Amino acid sequence: MKIFIDTANLDMIREINSWGILDGVTTNPSLIAKENTDTPTRVREIAKIVDGPISAECMATDWEQMVTEGEKLAAIHPNINVKLPMCVDSLKATKILADKGIRVNMTLIFSSSQALLAAKAGARYVSPFIGRLDDIGAHGTDTLAEILQILRNYDQLSDTEVIAASIRNPTHVLEAAELGCDIATIPYNILKLMVSHPKTDEGIAKFKAGNQYIIGIIPK
Ligand code: G3P
Repeated sequence: MKIFIDTANLDMIREINSWGILDGVTTNPSLIAKENTDTPTRVREIAKIVDGPISAECMATDWEQMVTEGEKLAAIHPNINVKLPMCVDSLKATKILADKGIRVNMTLIFSSSQALLAAKAGARYVSPFIGRLDDIGAHGTDTLAEILQILRNYDQLSDTEVIAASIRNPTHVLEAAELGCDIATIPYNILKLMVSHPKTDEGIAKFKAGNQYIIGIIPK
C-alpha cells in the first residue's frame, strides 16, 4: 500500500519523507489555511521535497471554473493532481480534465455509488472518508471494501486508485491494508503512532543500559 501524508505542513512532510516510506501528499483548503498560505504556493514547495503525487484542491464550484483552475494547478508540476469535491460539476470537470491527461482525485466520497461515478468519469483517484463515516455511526471500512470490490470488477475502472482518507487511528490504516487498498493518506500524528510501541521503547532502553556496561561508561 502506498503511504501519503495528509498535511500541508512542510516540516512534517520533510520529516516523514526522511523516513523513506512516503509516496505522496494530499492537501485540502483547511490544511492549507492552517499554514497561512495558498494552494499554488504550497504545492510548489511540496513538489521540491516529495517525488510523488501531490493533491491540490480546487476552490471553484462550477465545472467550467474547476477545469480552468485545475489546468492551472496541474501546470505547476507534473506530480500535481487536481482534487475535486464529489458533485455533478466535479464529474463534468473530471471527464474534461482526464481527457486532457490531468489526474483528478475525487474527494469527499462517502458511498460506493459516488466512487463508481467518479471512476467512470475518469478520476485517477477516489478518496473515501472512512473516519467521517465512522463519526456518523456508519462503518467506513465496509464502504471502503465495497468500493475496492466494485472497481476491481471492471478492467475499464482499474486505473482508478482508491485512497483511504480521513484516517483517525492506526487501525484504519491496517484495515485499509488488509483490504488491499491502493493508498492510505495518513495524518502526521497517526504516522508517529504507527512507528512506536511501548515494548519497543522498553527494549531499546534496556539495550542502551546494557551497552553502557559493555563499553565501560558505567563500571560494573
Ligand atoms: O484526506 C481527508 C482528510 O483531510 C479529512 O480528514 O479528519 O477532517 O475527516 P478529517
